[in-house]
Amino acid sequence: MAPSASAREELFITPRTVSHFTNQEVTDEMLREIYNLTKMGPTAFNSQPLRITWVRSAEARQRLAAHMVDSNQAKTIAAPVTAILGFDRSWFQRFGEFNPRSAPNMQPMFEGNPEAAEGAGALSAHLQAGYFITAVRALGLDAGPMTGGDLAAITTEFLADKNQQAFLIVNLGYGIEPSYPRNSRFEFEDVTETI
Ligand SMILES: Cc1cc2nc3c(=O)[nH]c(=O)nc-3n(C[C@H](O)[C@H](O)[C@H](O)COP(=O)(O)O)c2cc1C
Repeated sequence: MAPSASAREELFITPRTVSHFTNQEVTDEMLREIYNLTKMGPTAFNSQPLRITWVRSAEARQRLAAHMVDSNQAKTIAAPVTAILGFDRSWFQRFGEFNPRSAPNMQPMFEGNPEAAEGAGALSAHLQAGYFITAVRALGLDAGPMTGGDLAAITTEFLADKNQQAFLIVNLGYGIEPSYPRNSRFEFEDVTETI
């Protein structure tokens, strides 16, 4: 059965990108549920290359905010939780776990081709970031995704010892709706073609 029109509205139409949050708590159980929904989205070979670092403590938040552009710093410090989304650069080493049937053929192929491994890992992790934002919204929370920052420095400071690469920072919490109007979206006729 198709999800209801109101479910579609709540997931896709109503939520805005938010910068400011109430101080209502985001629990560890909610973070677990966000991940448990995110993980079900499709990825190449079922590779699941997304890795998440939840930033909660004031100390870690200050260190993260220091790498963001000026306009992103205050919101990063004030958000209840901030997620550093990265991808596992060695994702293919777990082929035997995430796709045992394809592992014998595919793992050596990616081991011998770092460029292909990076491209495939980044693509599926980026898709998972979309599932992540939708999962946040499905729990009634709001997300503020940001690339305005020094992602290379964030990778070095927070992820390098795990061989992950940061690509998106997402503030999470119960959002306060932005006061400015939403920018328009392209219409179907503008950006799609049937051939
Ligand atoms: C990949 C990505 C990077 C973004 N980077 C920033 C950012 O650095 N700072 C910021 O304030 N908003 C950032 N945004 C938020 C977008 O501007 C926002 O999602 C878009 O304008 C749609 O806004 P709406 O959901 O209110 O319609 C980013 C969003 C995405 C998906």
